[in-house]
Amino acid sequence: MKLFRHVKASTSASISGFALIALVCVSSAFLEPAPAVGKAPAKTQPAVLAGSAIAVPDSYSADAAEQIFNEGGNAVDAATAIAFTLAVTFPDAGNLGGGGFMTLYVDGKPYFLDYRERAPLAATKNMYLDDKGEIIKDMSLIGYRAVAVPGTVDGMWQAQRRFGKLKWQQVLAPAIHYARDGFVVAPQLQKLRDDAAKDFAGKTNFDTYFGNLRQGATFKQPDLAAVLQRISDQGAKDFYTGKTADLITASMRGHGLMTKADLAQYKAVWREPVQGNWKGYRVITAPPPSSGGVGLVQLLKMKADLAPDFKDVPLNSAQYVHLIAELEKRVFADRAQYLGDPDFYKVPVARLIDDPYLAKRAAEINPNVPSDTQSIQPGLGTSMPEKAQTTHFSVVDKWGNAVSNTYTLNGAFGSGVVVDGAGIALNDEMDDFSAKPGAANMFGVVGSDANAIEPKKRPLSSMAPTILTKDGRVALVIGTPGGSRIFTSIFQVITDIYDYDMPLSDALAAMRFHHQLLPPNTIYSEPYKPIEGELAQQLEAKGYKLEEQDFTGNVQVIKVDGDQPEAAADPRGRGTTRVVR
Ligand code: DON
Repeated sequence: MKLFRHVKASTSASISGFALIALVCVSSAFLEPAPAVGKAPAKTQPAVLAGSAIAVPDSYSADAAEQIFNEGGNAVDAATAIAFTLAVTFPDAGNLGGGGFMTLYVDGKPYFLDYRERAPLAATKNMYLDDKGEIIKDMSLIGYRAVAVPGTVDGMWQAQRRFGKLKWQQVLAPAIHYARDGFVVAPQLQKLRDDAAKDFAGKTNFDTYFGNLRQGATFKQPDLAAVLQRISDQGAKDFYTGKTADLITASMRGHGLMTKADLAQYKAVWREPVQGNWKGYRVITAPPPSSGGVGLVQLLKMKADLAPDFKDVPLNSAQYVHLIAELEKRVFADRAQYLGDPDFYKVPVARLIDDPYLAKRAAEINPNVPSDTQSIQPGLGTSMPEKAQTTHFSVVDKWGNAVSNTYTLNGAFGSGVVVDGAGIALNDEMDDFSAKPGAANMFGVVGSDANAIEPKKRPLSSMAPTILTKDGRVALVIGTPGGSRIFTSIFQVITDIYDYDMPLSDALAAMRFHHQLLPPNTIYSEPYKPIEGELAQQLEAKGYKLEEQDFTGNVQVIKVDGDQPEAAADPRGRGTTRVVR
């Protein structure tokens, strides 16, 4: 069984053979009238950049964004059009049936929208355990019980209603076109389909909807086109309380936990982004329920604290890998203990990214020897916190606004369940919860009660859509898929750009690696630039074990120098870039 095909080696026995891999509180949005009439024309603003730019995971979403910019749309209009388009043309990860995070910088102010999925009301802490307390294999990954309540449609609705300039119908139009008239399937997409189909065979209705997805052929999705048309006509309420909600709950009935009440109560949340100062930049990134933003800021700051140790250490040398792995150990120890949904636990974000705390953690690192895994404990003490196939795209508009968006179904094509009569692939995000303390999930990461399953709770994520600003202006927009590799990948690309002065394309092409505390002293490398030869020998001599994974990421990045945006797509994917002048 190999749902998350990004990693070859199993990291923990508890991954069960996986390659690592009430009230009805109706959303205020639902009380608004249907958005059919669109918005009043926006005031004309002077452009501050030479063009608008995008870095997206496929060419169809690039065309959609270009159309939106040509119609006068801003970064948020383009982002919502990209997200709906990818739900059609990048169906392994783009979605209506999943969730994600959007980091925004609009009119000089940072915002963060959490449209992560939530556990259904009927979810229980031990729902994936048998009577002996053991994890039931695949239950949180495949089929109806793996599905959490989707957030993408309310997320796009809230973002576009708040900040978009165009009519809602305009941002839906490209997606409706690709669903109704079809798009030509890329070879990589068919490969993902074929791999996923093996995992879902006999367990879900996946092939009814995606059986005909063949490379080079035009793939049409009439049911999904009808859903998108209703969302275009009626807004998000169709998905959460209308005909689409009826279709979703009819599909789940008798199989899964999600009900109409779950959909009606779903609401995306505007949160304060995590922010930190680093090298003269303001890093604006994802707060809990993501661990990614906290992890990214911890890594950046601790690496800066260790500047004397990194001096003269060549990038991606054995010593470099060792030092970064030591930082990652500490970050993943904190992640497992303190990170979860802030609506359920008061996550100590400020303390976790506090400069003296991180300086102390960094100072504990032995520059020569890998530290003993057992000795790495969460840094704020072990008391519990107080109760309290992903894709990324980056957008900057000519007015200097930016959107960094990562959203996901979790595994490729999610749970394998497709809503009958709607063609919506549903997520398997329930696997991001900690099903049992200390048991690893698909990505090999462990968690504590902070990330235990509770009704309406959001599972802990690693997604970290990030924006860097300098002197109040956007400097970098970046993000990637990759599960627990997300923020370690973003960290490496950011440091390649700013610490090692690499051009964007070189920074994206550079080798990336990953360590996450468990399994002990294990460094994951990727097929794109494997760790081999002398480097492998040097790391093994230091006491590290090397494991291959199939995937590290698909980073989409935009850098702004002066008034010139430059966009780059990861050579590991089929992403593309545009600058629209
Ligand atoms: O939220 C998370 O961290 C995961 N569900 C992301 C999954 C992912 O990145 C898979 N993609 N490659």
